[in-house]
Amino acid sequence: MKYTRIAGTGSYLPAKVQTNADLEKIVDTTDQWIIERTGVHSRRIMEETETTTSMAKIAAERAIEASGIDKNKIGMIIVATVTPETLFPNTATKLQKLLGITATKCPAFDISAACSGFICALSVADQYIRSGAVEYALIVGVESLTKFVDWTDRSTCILFSDGAGAAVLQAADAPGVYSTHIHADGDYGELLCLSGSSYKYDEPRYIRMRGNEVFKVAVTKLGEAVDEALAHNNLDRAAIDWLVPHQANLRIIQAMAKRLKLPMERVILTLANQGNTSAASVPLALDIGVRDGRIKRGDTLLLEAFGAGFIWGSALIKY
Ligand code: UT7
Repeated sequence: MKYTRIAGTGSYLPAKVQTNADLEKIVDTTDQWIIERTGVHSRRIMEETETTTSMAKIAAERAIEASGIDKNKIGMIIVATVTPETLFPNTATKLQKLLGITATKCPAFDISAACSGFICALSVADQYIRSGAVEYALIVGVESLTKFVDWTDRSTCILFSDGAGAAVLQAADAPGVYSTHIHADGDYGELLCLSGSSYKYDEPRYIRMRGNEVFKVAVTKLGEAVDEALAHNNLDRAAIDWLVPHQANLRIIQAMAKRLKLPMERVILTLANQGNTSAASVPLALDIGVRDGRIKRGDTLLLEAFGAGFIWGSALIKY
């Protein structure tokens, strides 16, 4: 049996920065409230000329370059996004074309799992690699969330941001990915959703969230997910070198670090200057930790995410 290892990572953030001071001018909020309640100081906003696919392309190219592999060896492309430019064709096939991957024996599909999308993509690719069906996979988390922000709603417009993160996965003789666990509970769908009716594609659509209710479930479910990952691998909390969490709220991340008895210095935090990029947030944090030298080969990483659906889960990885 094979295992999955991360061969390379990459990410992309739009250049345009939106600060809390910018938001103070458009909604009734303060820099102090936003920092205390969320931990966000600024966010990145895509330009009109940028798209979900163009951001995914740059992150993917950086991951492929870091992996050192020939792009035509990639046997599977999975893009996690809830903000594709078109419902079809999907983002993954657009990315295949933009990257110039000519091999057609390469399934390319999107996963719609909001903030947990990257962990779902990792979990699916891991099954293909473990079974021997695929040797190299490209997985991407990318979002154009600010296109769906209601700039009159102070409870949500302070949170979201745009960006992309990617990883090239490779078959290996040893882990790699020790485990992935994903959970879902559709009873919570209405607490975090995109407004609008299913078939009226031309009507305005906005992110709607009952934040405080989401927060409470997130802390409980992520706590369970963290415990589950450790128990499944028969690992003690002390084995975790780095927590690489979804970046929705600093208080949620602090609760997870506390549960793991990890000092915040062992958590890869991007929230302050990136806001919540949904499916892109975990691979963005992973890439930043790798590139700035904090995450080293052989380190044990715990990835976790929670979001719309609700869908939540974890991945325990030796980098
Ligand atoms: O990524 C997917 C998963 N998402 C999450 O995990 C997000 C989870 N939720 C959260 O991060 C937090 O619930 C928020 C940051 C969204 C909100 O923080 P909160 O501490 O839960 O605040 P709240 O919604 O309970 O609101 C408290 C008060 C309210 O005023 P009243 O009713 O107490 O008078 C809000 O109207 O804060 C008010 N408020 C604001 N005040 C200033 C809400 N937004 C703002 C704002 N500026 N931007």
